[in-house]
Amino acid sequence: MANIFPRYSNLIPIKIAICVVALALLVVVSFSYYATPKSTRVGYMPDQPIPYDHELHVKQLGLDCRLCHSFVEESGHANVPTADRCWTCHQHVKTDSEKLVPLRRAIDKSYEGYTGDPVKWVRVHKSPDYVFFNHSAHLNRGISCVSCHGQVNEMRTVFQAKDHSMGFCLDCHRAPEKHLRPLEEVFNLEYTAKNYVETHPEFAQQLLAFNPEFDVAASEKDVQETVGSFIKQHHSVQPKESCATCHR
Ligand code: HEC
Ligand code: HEC
Ligand code: HEC
Ligand code: HEC
Ligand code: HEC
Repeated sequence: MANIFPRYSNLIPIKIAICVVALALLVVVSFSYYATPKSTRVGYMPDQPIPYDHELHVKQLGLDCRLCHSFVEESGHANVPTADRCWTCHQHVKTDSEKLVPLRRAIDKSYEGYTGDPVKWVRVHKSPDYVFFNHSAHLNRGISCVSCHGQVNEMRTVFQAKDHSMGFCLDCHRAPEKHLRPLEEVFNLEYTAKNYVETHPEFAQQLLAFNPEFDVAASEKDVQETVGSFIKQHHSVQPKESCATCHR
C-alpha cells in the first residue's frame, strides 16, 4: 500500500524522542547545578602525619610548587612529594625536630625508628570517580592553582578552599577570562593583573591595541577581564561545556 504520509513525517517520533531526552537531561543538570549543596567539602582540613606548612615553605622560603608537585604540568594528576624531596633539606635543617619523626622513619636509615614506610599524607581534594579532570590541560592554558585551590601559599595547613562542584567548573568554562593569566604567572600565587600590566609595558601596549578603552587604573577585576579576554582570543582558549568533556 502506498504511503499516504509525506516521507519526512517519519522523523517526527524521533524528533519527539530527542526532545524528551534533552528535557530530561536539562532537569538533571539544573537539579545538580542548583540543588546540590555547594559547601559540603569547603573547609575540609584533615590532620596530616607531619604538620607541613605551605606558608613557611612557599611564601617565606620561596619554593616553587613544581619542586614538590612535579607532575602537575605534564600529567592529569598532581602528586605529593616523596620523602627524599623533603630530605634534601631536612637531613641538614631541623633534623631533631619532633615534627619530622615520620619523615626520618621513612628515609633516615641511621635513625633507630627507621621503617622505610612512606609518609601517609591524607588526601584533601577528591573528585567523584565519574568526573574526568586534568591538571596539565588547565595549567598549560593559563589557569593558576589559586583559581581552584585558593591561596595555598598562605595556608599553614592545607584545606579545601573552593567547592569543586559542577557549577564551579562550569562557571569558569563559561567565562575563563576572569581567570586566564600569562603562562609564566601560573605558579605565582601572588600575581595580580594590575601589577603584571604595570611591570610589562609591551604587554600593556598589546592590550591597548586589543581594547582602545583599556585603562590600567581601572579596578583589578576590570583589568583582569581585559587581560583574560586578550589571552582567550590570542591563544584561542575555549573550554568545553559538553557533558562528555568531564564525564567520559
Ligand atoms: C616542599 C614541598 C612542597 C611545595 C614547595 C608545595 N607543596 Fe603543596 N603539598 C606538599 C605536601 C607534602 C602536601 C601533602 C600534605 C598536605 O596536604 O599538607 C601538599 C599538599 C598540597 C595540596 C593538597 C593536595 C590534596 O591532598 O588534595 C595542594 C592543593 C597543594 N599542596 C598546592 C600547592 C601549591 C599551589 C604550591 C605552590 C604555591 C605548593 N603546593 C607547594 C608539599 C609541597
Ligand atoms: C628547600 C629546603 C626545604 C625543603 C625542600 C623542605 N623544607 Fe621543611 N623547612 C625548611 C626550612 C629552612 C625550615 C625552617 C627551619 C627553621 O625554622 O629554622 C623548615 C621547617 C620545616 C618544619 C618545621 C620544623 C620545626 O620543628 O619547626 C617542618 C615540619 C617541615 N619543614 C617539613 C617539611 C616537609 C614534610 C618537607 C617535604 C614535603 C619539607 N619540609 C621540605 C626547608 C625545607
Ligand atoms: C582547574 C582547577 C584546578 C587547578 C588550576 C589546579 N587544581 Fe589541583 N586539583 C583540582 C581538582 C578538581 C583536584 C581533585 C582531582 C581528583 O580527585 O581527581 C585536584 C587535586 C590536587 C592534588 C591532589 C592530588 C591529585 O592529583 O588528585 C594536588 C597535590 C593538587 N591538586 C595540586 C595542584 C597544584 C600545585 C596546582 C597548580 C600548579 C593545581 N593543583 C591546580 C583542581 C585544580
Ligand atoms: C578557573 C577556570 C576553570 C575551572 C575552575 C575549571 N576549568 Fe576546566 N578548563 C578551563 C580551561 C581554560 C580549559 C582549556 C580550554 C582550552 O584548551 O581551550 C579547561 C579544560 C578542561 C578540560 C579539557 C581537557 C582536555 O583533555 O581537553 C576538562 C576535562 C576540564 N577542563 C574539566 C574541568 C573540571 C572537571 C573542573 C572542575 C573540577 C574544571 N575543569 C574547572 C578552565 C577551568
Ligand atoms: C566542566 C566539567 C563538567 C561538565 C562540562 C559537566 N559536568 Fe557534570 N559534574 C561535574 C563535576 C565536577 C561533578 C561533581 C560535583 C560534585 O562532586 O559535587 C558533576 C556531577 C554531575 C552529576 C551528579 C550530580 C549530583 O548531584 O551528584 C550529574 C548527573 C552530571 N554531572 C551531569 C552532567 C550533564 C548531563 C552534563 C552535560 C550537560 C554535565 N554534567 C557536564 C563536572 C562537569
